[in-house]
Amino acid sequence: MEKLKLAVLISGRGSNLQALIDACAQSSFPAEIVLVISNKADADGLERAEKAGLQTHHVDHRAFASRADFDARMTTLMEAAGIELVCLAGFMRLLSDEFCNHWRDRMINIHPSLLPSFKGLDVQQAALDAGVRFSGCTVHYVRPEMDSGPIIIQAAVPILTDDTADTLAGRILVEEHKIYPQAVRLIAEQRVRIEEERAIISGMRTVPHSLTNPPISLD
Ligand code: GAR
Repeated sequence: MEKLKLAVLISGRGSNLQALIDACAQSSFPAEIVLVISNKADADGLERAEKAGLQTHHVDHRAFASRADFDARMTTLMEAAGIELVCLAGFMRLLSDEFCNHWRDRMINIHPSLLPSFKGLDVQQAALDAGVRFSGCTVHYVRPEMDSGPIIIQAAVPILTDDTADTLAGRILVEEHKIYPQAVRLIAEQRVRIEEERAIISGMRTVPHSLTNPPISLD
């Protein structure tokens, strides 16, 4: 079977890129990474990509007169490589409306909160400040408005009494590395369609167990 051709866009550490590299290394995984683009020359993720033998590009946003020109350069590179799905993985640049619309329904993002709660930056601290009992992570299709678009998959993570933004981020990251490859798999297997701006997954079986934090005790 033909594998879905992915581009992964990064700005830094690249641990989600690594999770995708590891998933794609399995022969049965229905997608392959064709291109990795970073807007930062020193992104650790570039090293991970090179180690995996992937084609990489550093596209320095500061070298372009406008956001639209920067985005257009990325589109040119991705179209030349025959990219079918763009995966934003810690890519910390806002994207132009034109770029989002050009790749509409062909671009996904991972975000470390249960969207639509806690968009933007420093979201773990925002979740702690709000006193919510669960946070988590979301993979969603990208729309021009930041951190919005049809949700494909989420993982919920309970917040612990002594959590700091760092400890919470660490536990959420473990789940990110599971749900991002799963979202790519679902799309590559053509199990995701968008209806009225909601992502519908065919054959989805949800285990109807609820989680409670703190747990209910009978004491
Ligand atoms: C991840 O936690 C990702 O969810 C987040 O940046 C981190 C990148 O880590 N993305 C966003 O906040 C996007 N709004 P990584 O480079 O190790 O994958």
